[in-house]
Amino acid sequence: MENQKKIDKLIIPRLQNMQPYVPIYPPDIMAEKFGVSEDDIVKLDGNENMFGPSPKVSQALSEFKDYNIYPDPLQEKLRESIANYAGTTPDRVIAGAGSDEIIDLLIRLFIQPGDKICQPVPTFAMYSTFTELVGGETISVSMDENFEITEDSILSAINNGVKIVFLTSPNNPTGRLIDKNFVSKILQKDVLVIVDEAYYEFSGKTCIDLIDDYSNLVILRTFSKWAGLAGMRIGYGIMNPSLVSHLLIIKPPYNISVAAEIAVKASLDDLELLLERVEIIKNEREWMFDRLSEIPFMEPIPSDANFILTKIVNLESVELYNRLLSKGILVRYYENELLKNYLRISIGSREQNQKLLDFIKQ
Ligand SMILES: Cc1ncc(COP(=O)(O)O)c(C=O)c1O
Repeated sequence: MENQKKIDKLIIPRLQNMQPYVPIYPPDIMAEKFGVSEDDIVKLDGNENMFGPSPKVSQALSEFKDYNIYPDPLQEKLRESIANYAGTTPDRVIAGAGSDEIIDLLIRLFIQPGDKICQPVPTFAMYSTFTELVGGETISVSMDENFEITEDSILSAINNGVKIVFLTSPNNPTGRLIDKNFVSKILQKDVLVIVDEAYYEFSGKTCIDLIDDYSNLVILRTFSKWAGLAGMRIGYGIMNPSLVSHLLIIKPPYNISVAAEIAVKASLDDLELLLERVEIIKNEREWMFDRLSEIPFMEPIPSDANFILTKIVNLESVELYNRLLSKGILVRYYENELLKNYLRISIGSREQNQKLLDFIKQ
């Protein structure tokens, strides 16, 4: 105990009581925790891809032999493949261990204790988590009751000395798109604008065409969702080449594993199949939206991503969440005030979606 206190005293005071990001857990861990078989777990809580990766991924991984050699710290071939896919040039691309890592690196490059970031909420929690980690402050601007961004509030936050604005499109957890005219408007200001397009492939809407005109714009994308590579941890940012150079200097030298690099190449070699799957997920999303709309205590929000946020009315969302959990059906429940009457449901296979609906209707 004395020893523990000794070490605790050395931890940076602001990090001693930091609240953890509420993560999701893999099916085997959940199965064990709830005493159900792993096969019975219906995992609709992580916006993952129910199809899994392209079959070419496991083939390429098993054929590769040189896992004993470190990956290329400059990610040259990888950045070239990603640039070709995204329709940009390699000098504008940097890859991270998930887009999470690019968020972390950007915050570390721009934010020091006392600096501010701004985000419309509700949104993805990692922007504020990484900001807290470096001693920055997050200005959270609430969206209106329809989850529309209140543009004037964001603009006034910017005028109060914010350094980074995070805009997520489609937004997690609402599934709503950002208005591109608004993005253009705030790009005129002296702030870094990070447009997180983690779910881009499910919406087809992007701000990437603004990259050449604005050195203060970053687009974030990932292979976690559309390409089914969440477990591989591979995402990327598209931005001005000088910003890429700075990030290449501060990133851990071998941040992308050889396995992740192989998985990206194999996925991009199987683009047709992966994009067909995206179309299936989009169709399934519309099917699910219609079914959820028929349930008297649910008010789903139209989504451009691979999940649907739904309001739960005349019932505690936590109660429904726990009932689903007891059957091994995992959806995302939020403990925060803004989302206390909501659940987020990832789009699964028809069988998984049907299982959820059957249980809810009981
Ligand atoms: C909006 C948003 N950005 C970034 C991420 C992180 O994705 P990655 O798996 O690439 O780290 C997620 C993951 O859920 C997300 O929802």
